[in-house]
Amino acid sequence: MKKIVLASRNRKKARELQEILNGLPYEIVTLEAFPDCPEVIEDGETFEANSAKKAAEVSAFTGLWAVADDSGIAVDALGGEPGVYSARYGDKETDEERNEHLLENLQGVPDDERTGRFVCCASLYGEGKLLYQVTETVEGRILHAERGEGGFGYDPLFLPDGFEVTTAEMTPEQKHQISHRGKALRKVKEFLESLEPHE
Ligand code: IMP
Repeated sequence: MKKIVLASRNRKKARELQEILNGLPYEIVTLEAFPDCPEVIEDGETFEANSAKKAAEVSAFTGLWAVADDSGIAVDALGGEPGVYSARYGDKETDEERNEHLLENLQGVPDDERTGRFVCCASLYGEGKLLYQVTETVEGRILHAERGEGGFGYDPLFLPDGFEVTTAEMTPEQKHQISHRGKALRKVKEFLESLEPHE
């Protein structure tokens, strides 16, 4: 079976990508199989630029087709921040510290103004070119305190529209059903399913 590599060193994110792409006629491997693969510098100003760069560099290093996602949370009351800087928001080291930083920056902002969205741009790179790219979002609100143990990153603070649970209180299947990453990766999956398996 042909291999596709997932271009993410974030284990929890790589697991989500793997769960969503499950069932394709490809062997899906992670960067754990390529410990020497250099870290990609995410210096783009858009999710699209960073996602394409990750997929391109990992594909070039591994010689495999690569799927990358670049994602983050955009908060309206903060002018769309942290956006592409979500993973290093406020130069904080951990998810807990970044969540605390987000809550501090939203102090005093009322419920109806705490709107925002998770964004995911997924890219598929192979044969020396960008084969497919798609961006998807899920709209919601930022709570005043963390709720739930599942997911990762900002999940304990994110209440998706139409739900009474955060994405950290959902099962992985529930989250994938509605999430930015679930929507984007299902489109990548459909694209791959429409192709003849590559050599
Ligand atoms: P990336 O690895 O550069 O794409 O960084 C994505 C960052 O955005 C993560 O480190 C999280 O902080 C945040 N993020 C992206 N997707 C999610 C999600 O599904 N739940 C919670 N946080 C997310």
